[in-house]
Amino acid sequence: MTDKRYRHISITPNFYQLGTPSFPAYLSLGDDGMIIEGGTGATFVIILNQLKELGIEAERIKYLFLTHTHADHIGAIPRLRRIWPHLKVVASPVGEKLLTRLVTKEEALKEFVEVDRSIARIMLSKGQIDAVPPELDSYKFGVDMVVKEGDRLDLGSGVSWTVYETPGHSPCHTSLHNEREGTLVIGDATGFYLPEKDIFWPNYFHSLEAYCSSIRKLASLPAQRGALSHNGVIEGGIKRYFRKAIRATESYHQEMMARLDRGEALDEIALEKAKWVVTFTALLPFEGIKALAALLVRRSQSAVVSEGMLAIP
Ligand SMILES: [Fe+2]
Repeated sequence: MTDKRYRHISITPNFYQLGTPSFPAYLSLGDDGMIIEGGTGATFVIILNQLKELGIEAERIKYLFLTHTHADHIGAIPRLRRIWPHLKVVASPVGEKLLTRLVTKEEALKEFVEVDRSIARIMLSKGQIDAVPPELDSYKFGVDMVVKEGDRLDLGSGVSWTVYETPGHSPCHTSLHNEREGTLVIGDATGFYLPEKDIFWPNYFHSLEAYCSSIRKLASLPAQRGALSHNGVIEGGIKRYFRKAIRATESYHQEMMARLDRGEALDEIALEKAKWVVTFTALLPFEGIKALAALLVRRSQSAVVSEGMLAIP
């Protein structure tokens, strides 16, 4: 039965939002279907129910496209692989390497399981799910198809996506563009954005330089809408959205530098920023957010800002 809390949302005749607002996944439908985003252990059942609600046969879903391989974006993969052996998991070359670590390094898998469970526990405490999903005997991650910049994923009936490598949030981050429909899958390339409050938490966890150049790349593509990996779809004013994302990144980076210049300790800055982040999201446990905030301070510290890097023409 469909969970009334989470119905699918029709974005265009061929593009649907699934999952939950905090952890959305998307479905693109041509003759074949492609799920975009690897979900979480807790959103897996929600996504399955939404597909049922849409009357989509499992066999029709050919691909699962990963925007990136952070723990909160891959949790449904091993669960889907168990029931849909035909599914092809698609990722960037770096994404493939990082997912392979989960198979070969016990520590990496342990860390994933912990984050996935903590997301489920947060969702349970908010009444978004009724139980934490059971752990699996084995987690079969793995990538079946590696895609690079400029590759196309053709789903038939005129639905086709071009791949853009957009690192910066993570080294493996990849975005998609459907030119005909004017849809961009932004993923986490612009960081964490909360449309209701128009707040950005810039997330240049891998590199500030790469993050800004990826935003500039995405801003150069013609689009009417942008699908985010948290908090849904931005409709209209996409160029303006990217300008805001860059401005927010610049001011966050400048704040980090100014505070370091004043002699504030990295830990102190991270703690204060984490306290600010939890005023508008509870995506991860506080300690996880604090560790990410500390990482941002270090990325700002080591960044080499060049002219034009923080501007969108
Ligand atoms: Fe991420």
